[in-house]
Amino acid sequence: MTDTASQEIVCWDARVLTLYPEMFPGSLGQSLAGRALKSGRWSLETVDIRDFARDKHRSVDDTPSGGGAGMVMRPDVVDAALASVGDRPGPVLYLSPRGRLLDQDFVHGLAAEPGVTLLCGRYEGVDQRVLDARNIVEVSVGDYVLSGGEPAALVLMDAVIRLLPGVMGNDESSREESFEQGLLEYPLYTRPADWQGRGVPEVLTSGHHDNIRLWRLAQAEEITKARRPDLWARYLKQRNEAHGKGRADEE
Ligand code: ADE
Repeated sequence: MTDTASQEIVCWDARVLTLYPEMFPGSLGQSLAGRALKSGRWSLETVDIRDFARDKHRSVDDTPSGGGAGMVMRPDVVDAALASVGDRPGPVLYLSPRGRLLDQDFVHGLAAEPGVTLLCGRYEGVDQRVLDARNIVEVSVGDYVLSGGEPAALVLMDAVIRLLPGVMGNDESSREESFEQGLLEYPLYTRPADWQGRGVPEVLTSGHHDNIRLWRLAQAEEITKARRPDLWARYLKQRNEAHGKGRADEE
């Protein structure tokens, strides 16, 4: 997948297959994403998986082969729902706690695609055969279990939409925020200068831009090192490679 900056995207098209179409656009109908939806920067099509049930009870699930708790979404119903959207450009992703973890690099990749098709599961999940038959990539939004893929789909789309060129007014703020440099974001302050006896770090009111930049970098490094050793190790490795050292230093 390519870099968002190098590609002109007219309208990013999201399709969501779900048993709960009324959950969409949900939070994405508000604020930044909501305005971008209204202006045609991205589009949303929901497909009600239940419309593709084949029996008079409109059932979409059945008991798991081999026994066990819960129900499994039927491959024939899910496949028919997927077939209904046709071969659209962009990947087909299934939101699942078993998937690859969503991170900012993956989000950038999706923003550079023409769109995405998201399959939301309920119950215990979707029959493996339809995932295999259609080479569907599984994506997780974190190491916890949600009651269905819908909130995860909203999270994924939110992360993508704000990166689409023109959606976020101030490009600077996206470059400086958490993950964009491989670091967590430095602490933020605003007025009043004194709040309940707590001041703003002096350097931030000094007007000395180099010192402010260095202070922010040092803070971002300290926070990342303390909170996310995994990100810190990756950051050191990349920094050392950039400086031609080729190995992570103990810092
Ligand atoms: N469905 C249920 N839990 C999920 C998770 N953590 N990520 C994506 N989809 C899910």
